[in-house]
Amino acid sequence: MVKFLTMDDFTFEGKVVLVRVDFNSPIDPQTKRILDDTRIRMHGDATIKELSKKNAKTVVLAHQGRPGSLDFIPLKQHAEILSKKINIPVKYVDDIFGEKAQKAIKDLKNGEILVLENVRMYPNERKSGTPEEHAQSDFIQSLATLADVFVNDAFAAAHRAHASIVGFTSVLPSVAGRIMERELKALSKVIEVPEKPCVYIFGGAKADDSLKISQYVLKNNIADYILTGGVISHLFLAAKEFNLGKPNMALLEKENVMGLVPGIKELMTTYPGKIKVPVDVACEVEGKRRELTVDNLPTTHPIYDIGTETSREYGEIIRGAKTVVFSGPMGVFEKKEFMPGTKKIFDAIAISQAFSLIGGGHTVAVVQELGLAEKMSYISTAGGALIAFLMGEKLPGVESLENAATKSEA
Ligand code: 3PG
Repeated sequence: MVKFLTMDDFTFEGKVVLVRVDFNSPIDPQTKRILDDTRIRMHGDATIKELSKKNAKTVVLAHQGRPGSLDFIPLKQHAEILSKKINIPVKYVDDIFGEKAQKAIKDLKNGEILVLENVRMYPNERKSGTPEEHAQSDFIQSLATLADVFVNDAFAAAHRAHASIVGFTSVLPSVAGRIMERELKALSKVIEVPEKPCVYIFGGAKADDSLKISQYVLKNNIADYILTGGVISHLFLAAKEFNLGKPNMALLEKENVMGLVPGIKELMTTYPGKIKVPVDVACEVEGKRRELTVDNLPTTHPIYDIGTETSREYGEIIRGAKTVVFSGPMGVFEKKEFMPGTKKIFDAIAISQAFSLIGGGHTVAVVQELGLAEKMSYISTAGGALIAFLMGEKLPGVESLENAATKSEA
Protein backbone atom coordinates (compact mmCIF):
# COMPACT_ATOMS: atom_id res chain seq x y z
CA MET A 1 0.00 0.00 0.00
CA VAL A 2 1.28 3.44 -0.90
CA LYS A 3 2.25 5.79 1.88
CA PHE A 4 0.69 9.20 1.54
CA LEU A 5 -1.00 11.67 3.82
CA THR A 6 -4.78 11.92 3.75
CA MET A 7 -7.29 14.60 4.68
CA ASP A 8 -7.20 13.23 8.23
CA ASP A 9 -3.65 14.53 8.57
CA PHE A 10 -4.39 18.23 8.10
CA THR A 11 -6.51 20.88 9.82
CA PHE A 12 -8.41 22.80 7.15
CA GLU A 13 -10.24 25.44 9.22
CA GLY A 14 -9.74 28.84 7.56
CA LYS A 15 -7.08 27.48 5.19
CA VAL A 16 -6.83 28.10 1.46
CA VAL A 17 -6.93 24.66 -0.10
CA LEU A 18 -6.03 23.93 -3.72
CA VAL A 19 -7.87 20.77 -4.62
CA ARG A 20 -7.12 19.09 -7.95
CA VAL A 21 -10.07 16.96 -9.04
CA ASP A 22 -10.88 15.15 -12.26
CA PHE A 23 -14.12 16.62 -13.61
CA ASN A 24 -13.36 15.44 -17.16
CA SER A 25 -16.77 14.29 -18.40
CA PRO A 26 -18.39 13.10 -21.61
CA ILE A 27 -19.72 16.08 -23.56
CA ASP A 28 -22.37 16.21 -26.27
CA PRO A 29 -20.39 17.40 -29.30
CA GLN A 30 -23.32 19.48 -30.60
CA THR A 31 -24.82 21.10 -27.52
CA LYS A 32 -21.61 21.03 -25.43
CA ARG A 33 -23.70 19.89 -22.47
CA ILE A 34 -22.24 17.45 -19.93
CA LEU A 35 -23.71 14.01 -20.60
CA ASP A 36 -22.77 12.44 -17.29
CA ASP A 37 -21.85 14.15 -14.05
CA THR A 38 -20.62 11.14 -12.06
CA ARG A 39 -17.13 12.49 -11.49
CA ILE A 40 -18.37 15.94 -10.45
CA ARG A 41 -20.84 14.38 -8.00
CA MET A 42 -18.24 12.03 -6.56
CA HIS A 43 -15.58 14.67 -5.88
CA GLY A 44 -18.31 16.97 -4.61
CA ASP A 45 -19.96 14.52 -2.25
CA ALA A 46 -16.70 13.33 -0.78
CA THR A 47 -13.78 15.72 -0.82
CA ILE A 48 -15.21 19.15 -1.67
CA LYS A 49 -18.18 18.98 0.71
CA GLU A 50 -15.91 17.81 3.51
CA LEU A 51 -13.51 20.71 2.91
CA SER A 52 -16.38 23.19 2.92
CA LYS A 53 -17.83 21.70 6.10
CA LYS A 54 -14.41 21.97 7.69
CA ASN A 55 -14.49 25.72 6.87
CA ALA A 56 -11.72 25.64 4.30
CA LYS A 57 -11.51 28.17 1.46
CA THR A 58 -11.65 25.63 -1.33
CA VAL A 59 -10.15 26.36 -4.75
CA VAL A 60 -10.98 23.68 -7.30
CA LEU A 61 -8.60 22.94 -10.19
CA ALA A 62 -9.69 20.62 -12.98
CA HIS A 63 -9.45 19.92 -16.69
CA GLN A 64 -12.00 19.10 -19.37
CA GLY A 65 -10.97 17.56 -22.70
CA ARG A 66 -7.78 18.25 -24.56
CA PRO A 67 -6.96 21.44 -26.52
CA GLY A 68 -8.33 21.04 -30.04
CA SER A 69 -10.91 18.39 -29.16
CA LEU A 70 -14.69 18.87 -29.22
CA ASP A 71 -14.98 18.30 -25.47
CA PHE A 72 -12.45 21.01 -24.64
CA ILE A 73 -14.77 23.49 -22.93
CA PRO A 74 -14.70 25.92 -19.98
CA LEU A 75 -15.65 24.73 -16.48
CA LYS A 76 -18.63 27.06 -15.90
CA GLN A 77 -21.10 24.21 -16.39
CA HIS A 78 -19.09 21.95 -14.08
CA ALA A 79 -19.23 24.58 -11.34
CA GLU A 80 -23.01 24.92 -11.71
CA ILE A 81 -23.51 21.15 -11.54
CA LEU A 82 -21.21 20.89 -8.53
CA SER A 83 -23.23 23.52 -6.72
CA LYS A 84 -26.53 21.73 -7.44
CA LYS A 85 -25.19 18.33 -6.42
CA ILE A 86 -23.74 19.38 -3.09
CA ASN A 87 -26.32 22.07 -2.42
CA ILE A 88 -23.71 24.70 -1.58
CA PRO A 89 -23.10 27.88 -3.64
CA VAL A 90 -20.04 27.51 -5.87
CA LYS A 91 -18.19 30.44 -7.44
CA TYR A 92 -16.56 30.23 -10.84
CA VAL A 93 -13.95 32.42 -12.47
CA ASP A 94 -12.88 32.20 -16.12
CA ASP A 95 -9.22 32.54 -15.23
CA ILE A 96 -6.63 30.08 -13.93
CA PHE A 97 -3.96 32.11 -12.17
CA GLY A 98 -4.19 35.67 -13.49
CA GLU A 99 -5.41 38.75 -11.61
CA LYS A 100 -9.07 37.69 -11.76
CA ALA A 101 -8.34 34.27 -10.29
CA GLN A 102 -6.04 35.68 -7.63
CA LYS A 103 -8.64 38.24 -6.54
CA ALA A 104 -11.36 35.58 -6.40
CA ILE A 105 -9.14 33.41 -4.18
CA LYS A 106 -8.29 36.30 -1.86
CA ASP A 107 -12.01 37.17 -1.57
CA LEU A 108 -12.99 33.65 -0.44
CA LYS A 109 -14.52 33.32 3.01
CA ASN A 110 -14.38 30.25 5.21
CA GLY A 111 -16.45 27.39 3.81
CA GLU A 112 -16.69 28.92 0.31
CA ILE A 113 -15.85 27.09 -2.89
CA LEU A 114 -14.35 28.50 -6.08
CA VAL A 115 -13.86 26.66 -9.37
CA LEU A 116 -11.05 28.02 -11.56
CA GLU A 117 -10.96 27.79 -15.37
CA ASN A 118 -10.03 24.59 -17.24
CA VAL A 119 -6.33 24.19 -16.38
CA ARG A 120 -5.61 22.88 -19.87
CA MET A 121 -6.18 26.40 -21.18
CA TYR A 122 -2.76 27.08 -19.65
CA PRO A 123 -0.45 26.06 -22.51
CA ASN A 124 2.19 24.36 -20.33
CA GLU A 125 -0.26 22.37 -18.21
CA ARG A 126 0.15 19.20 -20.27
CA LYS A 127 3.94 19.38 -20.52
CA SER A 128 5.35 16.44 -18.57
CA GLY A 129 7.73 17.50 -15.86
CA THR A 130 8.94 16.79 -12.36
CA PRO A 131 7.27 18.56 -9.42
CA GLU A 132 10.34 20.78 -9.12
CA GLU A 133 10.34 21.72 -12.81
CA HIS A 134 6.64 22.60 -12.79
CA ALA A 135 6.99 24.47 -9.50
CA GLN A 136 9.08 27.11 -11.26
CA SER A 137 6.20 28.14 -13.53
CA ASP A 138 4.11 31.27 -13.01
CA PHE A 139 1.05 29.06 -12.72
CA ILE A 140 2.28 27.05 -9.73
CA GLN A 141 4.07 29.99 -8.11
CA SER A 142 1.10 32.37 -8.26
CA LEU A 143 -1.39 29.91 -6.80
CA ALA A 144 0.95 28.29 -4.26
CA THR A 145 1.72 31.70 -2.76
CA LEU A 146 -1.97 32.15 -1.96
CA ALA A 147 -2.56 28.64 -0.60
CA ASP A 148 -1.85 26.61 2.55
CA VAL A 149 -2.25 23.06 1.31
CA PHE A 150 -2.67 20.98 -1.84
CA VAL A 151 -5.19 18.13 -1.99
CA ASN A 152 -4.80 15.77 -4.92
CA ASP A 153 -8.08 14.01 -5.51
CA ALA A 154 -7.54 13.34 -9.21
CA PHE A 155 -6.60 9.67 -9.27
CA ALA A 156 -8.06 9.50 -12.78
CA ALA A 157 -5.43 11.96 -14.01
CA ALA A 158 -2.59 10.74 -11.77
CA HIS A 159 -0.85 9.06 -14.71
CA ARG A 160 -0.09 12.51 -16.12
CA ALA A 161 3.00 14.37 -14.89
CA HIS A 162 1.12 17.58 -15.63
CA ALA A 163 1.68 20.90 -13.89
CA SER A 164 -1.49 20.92 -11.77
CA ILE A 165 -1.09 17.24 -10.83
CA VAL A 166 2.48 17.25 -9.55
CA GLY A 167 3.61 20.91 -9.44
CA PHE A 168 2.19 21.91 -6.07
CA THR A 169 3.54 18.89 -4.21
CA SER A 170 7.08 20.25 -4.00
CA VAL A 171 6.01 23.63 -2.62
CA LEU A 172 2.96 22.97 -0.43
CA PRO A 173 1.98 20.39 2.18
CA SER A 174 0.17 17.79 0.06
CA VAL A 175 -2.40 15.16 0.90
CA ALA A 176 -4.64 12.71 -0.94
CA GLY A 177 -8.31 13.59 -1.28
CA ARG A 178 -11.06 11.12 -0.42
CA ILE A 179 -11.51 9.81 -3.95
CA MET A 180 -7.77 9.37 -4.45
CA GLU A 181 -7.62 7.51 -1.15
CA ARG A 182 -10.61 5.28 -1.97
CA GLU A 183 -9.33 4.37 -5.43
CA LEU A 184 -5.85 3.49 -4.22
CA LYS A 185 -7.19 1.38 -1.39
CA ALA A 186 -9.61 -0.50 -3.64
CA LEU A 187 -7.17 -1.00 -6.49
CA SER A 188 -4.38 -2.21 -4.27
CA LYS A 189 -6.69 -5.14 -3.46
CA VAL A 190 -6.81 -6.30 -7.07
CA ILE A 191 -3.11 -6.13 -7.88
CA GLU A 192 -2.76 -9.85 -7.34
CA VAL A 193 -2.82 -12.74 -9.77
CA PRO A 194 -6.42 -12.57 -10.96
CA GLU A 195 -8.72 -15.53 -10.72
CA LYS A 196 -8.85 -17.34 -14.09
CA PRO A 197 -10.17 -17.19 -16.71
CA CYS A 198 -9.40 -13.49 -16.85
CA VAL A 199 -10.77 -11.33 -19.64
CA TYR A 200 -9.73 -7.79 -20.52
CA ILE A 201 -12.12 -5.81 -22.70
CA PHE A 202 -10.88 -2.72 -24.50
CA GLY A 203 -12.93 -0.23 -26.48
CA GLY A 204 -12.90 3.51 -26.99
CA ALA A 205 -10.13 5.32 -28.80
CA LYS A 206 -7.09 5.19 -26.50
CA ALA A 207 -5.32 2.66 -28.70
CA ASP A 208 -1.76 3.18 -27.46
CA ASP A 209 -2.77 2.47 -23.84
CA SER A 210 -4.73 -0.61 -24.87
CA LEU A 211 -1.83 -2.03 -26.83
CA LYS A 212 0.59 -1.54 -23.93
CA ILE A 213 -1.68 -3.20 -21.43
CA SER A 214 -2.45 -6.03 -23.86
CA GLN A 215 1.26 -6.68 -24.18
CA TYR A 216 1.70 -6.60 -20.42
CA VAL A 217 -1.24 -8.81 -19.48
CA LEU A 218 -0.48 -11.39 -22.16
CA LYS A 219 3.28 -11.54 -21.50
CA ASN A 220 2.67 -11.91 -17.78
CA ASN A 221 -0.09 -14.47 -18.23
CA ILE A 222 -2.61 -12.25 -16.47
CA ALA A 223 -5.28 -12.22 -19.20
CA ASP A 224 -6.59 -15.27 -21.02
CA TYR A 225 -8.51 -13.23 -23.56
CA ILE A 226 -8.55 -9.70 -24.85
CA LEU A 227 -11.79 -8.56 -26.46
CA THR A 228 -11.63 -5.47 -28.64
CA GLY A 229 -14.25 -2.90 -29.65
CA GLY A 230 -14.45 0.77 -30.61
CA VAL A 231 -11.67 2.45 -32.58
CA ILE A 232 -9.23 -0.01 -30.99
CA SER A 233 -10.89 -2.92 -32.77
CA HIS A 234 -10.66 -1.01 -36.06
CA LEU A 235 -6.93 -0.82 -35.55
CA PHE A 236 -6.67 -4.51 -34.70
CA LEU A 237 -8.74 -5.33 -37.80
CA ALA A 238 -6.42 -3.14 -39.87
CA ALA A 239 -3.49 -5.10 -38.42
CA LYS A 240 -5.20 -8.23 -39.73
CA GLU A 241 -5.10 -6.63 -43.21
CA PHE A 242 -8.79 -5.70 -43.32
CA ASN A 243 -9.53 -2.59 -45.35
CA LEU A 244 -12.28 -0.89 -43.33
CA GLY A 245 -13.15 1.64 -46.01
CA LYS A 246 -12.41 5.31 -46.44
CA PRO A 247 -14.11 7.00 -43.43
CA ASN A 248 -12.83 4.41 -40.98
CA MET A 249 -9.27 4.24 -42.29
CA ALA A 250 -9.25 8.06 -42.37
CA LEU A 251 -10.21 8.11 -38.68
CA LEU A 252 -7.28 5.82 -37.82
CA GLU A 253 -4.95 8.10 -39.77
CA LYS A 254 -6.42 11.13 -38.01
CA GLU A 255 -5.94 9.49 -34.61
CA ASN A 256 -2.36 8.85 -35.68
CA VAL A 257 -2.44 5.23 -34.48
CA MET A 258 -1.41 3.32 -37.63
CA GLY A 259 2.16 3.24 -36.31
CA LEU A 260 0.94 0.74 -33.69
CA VAL A 261 0.06 -1.86 -36.33
CA PRO A 262 3.47 -3.69 -36.35
CA GLY A 263 3.30 -4.11 -32.54
CA ILE A 264 -0.25 -5.46 -32.78
CA LYS A 265 0.73 -7.89 -35.53
CA GLU A 266 3.59 -9.21 -33.41
CA LEU A 267 1.32 -9.66 -30.40
CA MET A 268 -1.30 -11.54 -32.39
CA THR A 269 1.36 -13.86 -33.80
CA THR A 270 2.95 -14.51 -30.39
CA TYR A 271 -0.39 -15.15 -28.65
CA PRO A 272 -2.63 -16.76 -31.27
CA GLY A 273 -6.33 -16.95 -30.38
CA LYS A 274 -6.04 -14.73 -27.32
CA ILE A 275 -7.01 -11.43 -28.93
CA LYS A 276 -10.55 -11.28 -30.26
CA VAL A 277 -11.59 -8.82 -32.94
CA PRO A 278 -15.15 -8.24 -34.21
CA VAL A 279 -16.53 -10.71 -36.74
CA ASP A 280 -19.21 -8.19 -37.65
CA VAL A 281 -19.70 -4.44 -37.27
CA ALA A 282 -22.51 -1.88 -37.31
CA CYS A 283 -22.31 1.12 -39.64
CA GLU A 284 -24.38 4.26 -39.87
CA VAL A 285 -26.27 4.38 -43.15
CA GLU A 286 -28.55 7.40 -43.54
CA GLY A 287 -28.87 7.74 -39.80
CA LYS A 288 -29.71 4.05 -39.29
CA ARG A 289 -27.77 1.06 -37.97
CA ARG A 290 -26.76 -1.46 -40.57
CA GLU A 291 -24.65 -4.53 -39.79
CA LEU A 292 -22.18 -6.33 -42.00
CA THR A 293 -19.65 -9.09 -41.45
CA VAL A 294 -16.01 -8.10 -41.59
CA ASP A 295 -15.61 -10.29 -44.69
CA ASN A 296 -17.84 -7.80 -46.48
CA LEU A 297 -15.58 -4.87 -45.73
CA PRO A 298 -14.63 -2.25 -46.93
CA THR A 299 -17.59 0.04 -46.35
CA THR A 300 -18.15 3.65 -47.34
CA HIS A 301 -20.06 4.20 -44.08
CA PRO A 302 -18.63 4.95 -40.64
CA ILE A 303 -18.41 1.95 -38.28
CA TYR A 304 -19.98 2.89 -34.95
CA ASP A 305 -20.40 -0.40 -33.06
CA ILE A 306 -19.57 -4.09 -32.91
CA GLY A 307 -22.16 -6.36 -34.53
CA THR A 308 -24.68 -8.83 -33.04
CA GLU A 309 -22.60 -11.96 -33.65
CA THR A 310 -19.54 -10.33 -32.06
CA SER A 311 -21.59 -9.38 -28.98
CA ARG A 312 -22.80 -12.97 -28.73
CA GLU A 313 -19.26 -14.41 -28.95
CA TYR A 314 -17.88 -11.88 -26.48
CA GLY A 315 -20.82 -12.53 -24.12
CA GLU A 316 -20.03 -16.24 -24.05
CA ILE A 317 -16.40 -15.61 -23.11
CA ILE A 318 -17.43 -13.14 -20.41
CA ARG A 319 -19.98 -15.47 -18.86
CA GLY A 320 -17.25 -18.09 -18.44
CA ALA A 321 -14.78 -15.66 -16.84
CA LYS A 322 -13.80 -15.26 -13.17
CA THR A 323 -12.20 -11.85 -13.62
CA VAL A 324 -13.27 -9.15 -16.05
CA VAL A 325 -11.71 -5.77 -16.64
CA PHE A 326 -13.69 -3.48 -18.95
CA SER A 327 -12.45 -0.10 -20.12
CA GLY A 328 -13.76 1.85 -23.12
CA PRO A 329 -17.15 1.46 -24.83
CA MET A 330 -17.64 -0.81 -27.85
CA GLY A 331 -18.99 1.96 -30.04
CA VAL A 332 -20.50 5.42 -30.35
CA PHE A 333 -22.93 4.81 -27.48
CA GLU A 334 -24.04 8.46 -27.48
CA LYS A 335 -26.09 7.54 -30.56
CA LYS A 336 -28.90 5.25 -29.41
CA GLU A 337 -28.65 2.96 -32.42
CA PHE A 338 -25.04 2.18 -31.54
CA MET A 339 -25.47 1.44 -27.84
CA PRO A 340 -26.32 -2.32 -28.22
CA GLY A 341 -22.70 -3.56 -28.46
CA THR A 342 -21.70 -1.88 -25.21
CA LYS A 343 -24.98 -2.82 -23.50
CA LYS A 344 -24.58 -6.51 -24.32
CA ILE A 345 -21.10 -6.52 -22.77
CA PHE A 346 -22.54 -5.08 -19.56
CA ASP A 347 -25.45 -7.55 -19.62
CA ALA A 348 -22.99 -10.43 -19.86
CA ILE A 349 -20.85 -9.06 -17.01
CA ALA A 350 -23.97 -8.52 -14.88
CA ILE A 351 -25.03 -12.15 -15.10
CA SER A 352 -21.50 -13.58 -14.82
CA GLN A 353 -19.98 -14.67 -11.53
CA ALA A 354 -16.78 -12.79 -12.34
CA PHE A 355 -15.13 -10.13 -10.24
CA SER A 356 -15.64 -7.16 -12.51
CA LEU A 357 -13.67 -3.98 -12.57
CA ILE A 358 -15.09 -1.19 -14.72
CA GLY A 359 -13.03 1.86 -15.64
CA GLY A 360 -13.03 4.94 -17.83
CA GLY A 361 -15.28 8.01 -17.78
CA HIS A 362 -17.37 6.95 -20.77
CA THR A 363 -17.67 3.33 -19.68
CA VAL A 364 -18.82 4.36 -16.22
CA ALA A 365 -21.34 6.76 -17.77
CA VAL A 366 -22.91 3.97 -19.79
CA VAL A 367 -23.15 1.46 -16.94
CA GLN A 368 -24.99 4.07 -14.91
CA GLU A 369 -27.27 5.02 -17.77
CA LEU A 370 -28.12 1.33 -18.19
CA GLY A 371 -28.86 0.97 -14.47
CA LEU A 372 -26.33 -1.85 -14.15
CA ALA A 373 -23.79 -0.17 -11.86
CA GLU A 374 -24.91 -2.17 -8.82
CA LYS A 375 -24.17 -5.39 -10.68
CA MET A 376 -20.48 -4.53 -11.15
CA SER A 377 -17.95 -5.47 -8.43
CA TYR A 378 -15.95 -2.25 -8.52
CA ILE A 379 -16.27 0.90 -10.58
CA SER A 380 -13.20 3.04 -10.93
CA THR A 381 -13.60 6.60 -12.13
CA ALA A 382 -10.29 6.37 -13.95
CA GLY A 383 -9.44 5.29 -17.48
CA GLY A 384 -5.79 5.66 -18.44
CA ALA A 385 -4.67 5.99 -14.81
CA LEU A 386 -6.39 2.74 -13.94
CA ILE A 387 -4.71 0.97 -16.83
CA ALA A 388 -1.29 2.34 -15.93
CA PHE A 389 -1.86 1.31 -12.33
CA LEU A 390 -2.92 -2.22 -13.30
CA MET A 391 0.26 -2.50 -15.34
CA GLY A 392 2.25 -1.82 -12.20
CA GLU A 393 3.42 1.57 -13.44
CA LYS A 394 4.27 4.29 -10.99
CA LEU A 395 1.78 7.12 -11.38
CA PRO A 396 3.41 10.57 -11.15
CA GLY A 397 0.41 11.95 -9.24
CA VAL A 398 0.67 9.21 -6.61
CA GLU A 399 4.46 9.18 -6.50
CA SER A 400 4.54 12.94 -5.89
CA LEU A 401 2.13 12.53 -2.96
CA GLU A 402 4.33 9.79 -1.51
CA ASN A 403 7.41 11.99 -1.88
CA ALA A 404 5.60 14.89 -0.22
CA ALA A 405 4.66 12.60 2.68
CA THR A 406 8.26 11.43 3.07
CA LYS A 407 9.47 15.02 2.97
CA SER A 408 6.98 16.05 5.66
CA GLU A 409 8.24 13.21 7.92
CA ALA A 410 11.87 14.34 7.63
C1 3PG B 1 -9.36 10.69 -18.03
O1 3PG B 1 -10.53 10.97 -18.30
O2 3PG B 1 -8.85 9.56 -18.24
C2 3PG B 1 -8.53 11.72 -17.36
O3 3PG B 1 -9.27 12.86 -17.11
C3 3PG B 1 -7.29 12.04 -18.13
O4 3PG B 1 -7.60 12.61 -19.35
P1 3PG B 1 -6.49 12.65 -20.50
O5 3PG B 1 -6.37 11.27 -21.05
O6 3PG B 1 -7.01 13.63 -21.52
O7 3PG B 1 -5.20 13.11 -19.87
